[in-house]
Amino acid sequence: MEIAGRVAVVTGAAGGVGSVGAARLVREGADVILADIDEERGAAVAAEMGGTFFATDVTEASGANHLIDFANERDGGLGILVNNAGGYNRPVFPDAAAAHWERVLDLNLRAVMLCTQAALPAMARRGVVVNIASAAGTGTRPYDGAPEYAAAKAAVIRLTAAMRERDGVRINCISPDWVGTAAVRESIAAMTDTEREDVPDVLIEPDVIADGVIRFVRDDTLAGRIMVIWCGERSRLLPDNRRD
Ligand SMILES: NC(=O)c1ccc[n+]([C@@H]2O[C@H](COP(=O)([O-])OP(=O)(O)OC[C@H]3O[C@@H](n4cnc5c(N)ncnc54)[C@H](O)[C@@H]3O)[C@@H](O)[C@H]2O)c1
Repeated sequence: MEIAGRVAVVTGAAGGVGSVGAARLVREGADVILADIDEERGAAVAAEMGGTFFATDVTEASGANHLIDFANERDGGLGILVNNAGGYNRPVFPDAAAAHWERVLDLNLRAVMLCTQAALPAMARRGVVVNIASAAGTGTRPYDGAPEYAAAKAAVIRLTAAMRERDGVRINCISPDWVGTAAVRESIAAMTDTEREDVPDVLIEPDVIADGVIRFVRDDTLAGRIMVIWCGERSRLLPDNRRD
C-alpha cells in the first residue's frame, strides 16, 4: 500500500519507538496522528515532526473510539494503525496487586484490541494494522521481568496471526528484543553490574522497528505475519502457517 497521503495513527507516540515510527511515516508523506496519554510531551513531539497530536488513553474504549473517529474524519480516512503503546512498571505479577497487573494487560493487549476493533470498520478494505509486541512474548524461556507483560505480548502475537486479514485490512506484528530508546539506555545506566549481565551488548535501533512498520504497510502480500528482531541479528519474518 502506498504511504504518501494516507492517514496513520501511532499510539504511544510521545517518545521511544512510537515517536521514531511516527516521524518515519511523516517523512514518507503520511498524515500522522500521534496518540498518547502524555499531553505535554506528545504535543511537543508532534509539532516538531509535523504530525498531529491527539491526547487519549487507549486502554479506555471511549479513548480508542474517539481517536479512531478523529483520524477517520481526516481527508482520505484512516489507512494505517500502529498499535505501539505498551510497557510495564514494577511491581509485577504475582507480587503486584491485581489492579496493577491488570493495567499492564489493559495497555499491552486490551488497547490493541480496542483500537483494532474501532479501526476495522473505519479502514474497510484500505488499511493496515501493525502491532508492536515484544520478544518477551515469544518462545518458552522464563521472563521473570514481568510475566503479565510477556503473556500480553504473546497474546498480541497470537491475535495478529489468528486474525491475519479482516475485510481487506492486513494485520501484522513486530516482536523486538531490547530497543535502544533513550529511556531504555537510561535504565541500563542505572542498573547494577549484576543486572547489566542480562543486557545484550548491542541494542536494536528504533529505526529498525520503523523499517519493519514501513515494510508491513507497503507489502500487500504480508498478512498475519510476525517479524522477530533479536539484538545483533537481522529482522526476519516467522514462517507462515506453522503448527509449532
Ligand atoms: N523499548 C524496548 O526495549 C522494547 C522492546 C520490545 C518491545 N517494546 C514495545 O515497543 C512499544 C514501545 O516501547 P517504548 O520502549 O518506546 O515505550 P515507552 O515507554 O518509551 O513509550 C510508550 C508510550 O506509550 C504512552 N502510553 C502509556 N500508556 C498509554 C495509554 N494508556 N494511552 C496512550 N498512550 C500511552 C506513554 O506515554 C509513552 O509515550 C511498547 O509496546 C513496548 O512494549 C519495547
